[in-house]
Amino acid sequence: MNKSGKTIVIIGAQWGDEGKGKITDYLATAYDYVVRYQGGNNAGHTVVVDGEVHKLHLLPSGVLYPQKRIVIGNGVVIDPAVLIDEMKQFEKKGRKLNLLISERAHVIFPFQVMLDKAIDAFKGKLGAGTTGRGIGPCYSDKADRSGIRMIDLLNPRTFKEKFELLFSKKTLALTQLYKQQCDLDKGTVMRQYQGYARKLKPYVGDVSLELNQALGRGKNIMFEGAQGVMLDLDHGAYPHTTSSNTIAGSVCTGAGIGPTRINEILGVVKAYLSRVGAGPLPTEDTGAIGNYLRERGKEYGTTTGRPRRCGWVDLVQLRYACRINGFTSLAITKIDVLDGLKTIPIAVGYRYKGGVINEFPTDLGVVEQCKPVYKELKGWPDYTPGQLSAMVHGGYPSLPKTMKEYLKFIADATQTPISLISLGQEREAVIEVL
Ligand code: IMP
Repeated sequence: MNKSGKTIVIIGAQWGDEGKGKITDYLATAYDYVVRYQGGNNAGHTVVVDGEVHKLHLLPSGVLYPQKRIVIGNGVVIDPAVLIDEMKQFEKKGRKLNLLISERAHVIFPFQVMLDKAIDAFKGKLGAGTTGRGIGPCYSDKADRSGIRMIDLLNPRTFKEKFELLFSKKTLALTQLYKQQCDLDKGTVMRQYQGYARKLKPYVGDVSLELNQALGRGKNIMFEGAQGVMLDLDHGAYPHTTSSNTIAGSVCTGAGIGPTRINEILGVVKAYLSRVGAGPLPTEDTGAIGNYLRERGKEYGTTTGRPRRCGWVDLVQLRYACRINGFTSLAITKIDVLDGLKTIPIAVGYRYKGGVINEFPTDLGVVEQCKPVYKELKGWPDYTPGQLSAMVHGGYPSLPKTMKEYLKFIADATQTPISLISLGQEREAVIEVL
């Protein structure tokens, strides 16, 4: 019988920024490969190791473990300038990166970045409040087949031909359609990207082939999702979503492995909720308590620095996330941020037109009118760092009763077991629920 390594997919179960980077980093020890398979440098992962804060946008979190193979799959869109900058941060420390970049991944260009901002502004209130990193325009060029892949970038003749077309198409849209000034010089951008190609060439290869061969040799693979379920292009709160599929199914198309290869799917859930960008958010608290969560949870975008909108766990949304991802378990993060609250509201349904609905509506006009039905759960005291670290050492049984009740409430409502609880920023501050 063929040997097969095990796989896990890490998914943000809410609106992004659930603390996936921390969980990925924590679990990474058991995996040989850490793979990104969608999104681009719109993502931002913060991981703290030995007091040093690492902010990553494109490189998989596994980069913090020198022996791991880190992989950027075909479903990712790559801004080479950003990637090279991130690589340099590690190379400066004398690290040789064990990196593989898919030859099928699409490349982001400056005119796509400019268009991203112009298009989002043009859309007014139908805009997504994008990160302005060129993600949407790059994916739309991919879908209309005028995009440029890593393999195209490496071939001077193909690159020149495709670049000429893409440059004309995008600069025409910028200047004629969106009436933007564009002083990009075609030759300069082309030369710049030829330089990037030289730097990245040694890392580019066939991701699907290597991952499948690795599994066959019994290697373990972790797939690291970016953004969150509600930002999924198909299943999220469209049009206020990102431009890629953020749900677990996207691993197959974004890395080139078959669905039967997926063993575990871990949904990462923040113990409260946050979102950046536009769109209805039923459990948002725009008052003092929202500010409290934002400050205490340091809820400012890793990529853009924007303040995040904060509120309470929404079980309507979370049950939906469980349904479309098939989570095998949940990781609850930042539960320490809730320390010291007398009661903690959790939305169990939405009140709409005199009735109660339990499923997340597709029509955002309906979501806008939904008022959460809250269940108030008892809080727990404000613990000192010493007390929190004692809980980490004591494991699940040492958690306060009311915290365990809060966790059990989420597990019961979603019919999904909780396997991990994160009580702080440091890599070690995690409890495994056995
Ligand atoms: P884009 O991905 O830059 O096109 O932005 C589309 C929407 O997704 C915006 O509302 C962004 O704020 C949001 N978004 C994109 N990446 C992230 C992320 O990593 N965390 C949270 N929100 C994100």
